[in-house]
Amino acid sequence: MDKKLQTISLNKVPNHIAVIMDGNGRWAKKQGMNRVFGHRNAMTAIRDSVDGASEIGTKFITMYAFSTENWNRPKFEVDALMHLLVTTLNKELPEFQRKNVKVNAIGNISSLPSKAQKTLQKVIDQTKNNTKITLSFALSYGSREEIVNAIKNISKKVVNTQLDIENIDEKTINNHLYTFNLPDVDLMIRTSGEQRISNFLLWQMAYAELYFTEMLWPDFRKENFFDAIIEYQNRERRFGKTSEQITSNE
Ligand code: IPE
Ligand code: IPE
Ligand code: MG
Repeated sequence: MDKKLQTISLNKVPNHIAVIMDGNGRWAKKQGMNRVFGHRNAMTAIRDSVDGASEIGTKFITMYAFSTENWNRPKFEVDALMHLLVTTLNKELPEFQRKNVKVNAIGNISSLPSKAQKTLQKVIDQTKNNTKITLSFALSYGSREEIVNAIKNISKKVVNTQLDIENIDEKTINNHLYTFNLPDVDLMIRTSGEQRISNFLLWQMAYAELYFTEMLWPDFRKENFFDAIIEYQNRERRFGKTSEQITSNE
């Protein structure tokens, strides 16, 4: 694993990594267990990804933990996920402190059960001065809902004459998203073989590199995380320019 770390150039790491943690249900099913068993075994992969990101100097990592669409799952599973959120946050808080991790949340947080909201707020408050990496959990998150809210809030400001329509630009939109304090996504990782975005960070991923792996989330380890980074570093990010312009630094 250290060998893999050595092949990563530390001056070219993604600043913001977004992760769609997928495949918990299938992982559990393969072992004849129920889906919740898969969710319960997701923590090692989260820890390994955050540690890996921290080690290479990535400053922001955002984990998709629960989507607006996930509310449509069976009540039993939704309840289990909400319960797991509380126990996991409580259990991990000392680790976040020890590893200097600042916790953040994006999504419709007020739709979460009050116990989950309280625990989340506690962990956010207690880690707010940490500086090594910002770990954002996307909870009851949907990109389209986020954009609808942004448009509503911007419109209110226009109606109140706080904002002139002519002054609306990309920055205005950014500032009204849940991610107002996060930079654009550089790399998006999705496990489980599904190759879709599932309503995650649509605006923020406009120029992200996308990385898909067949691995199921509970099996994902630091070395697999580093594989994604190595692949990212082998891509040429052109942002509309030509390859020649990029290599000659124009
Ligand atoms: C991802 O695993 C976790 C959540 C969406 C909460 P899934 O629960 O989607 O697992 P699969 O895709 O059914 O295997
Ligand atoms: C996306 O996974 C949401 C999270 C990982 C939290 P899903 O498993 O819900 O995605 P779809 O519905 O299969 O695209
Ligand atoms: Mg899934």
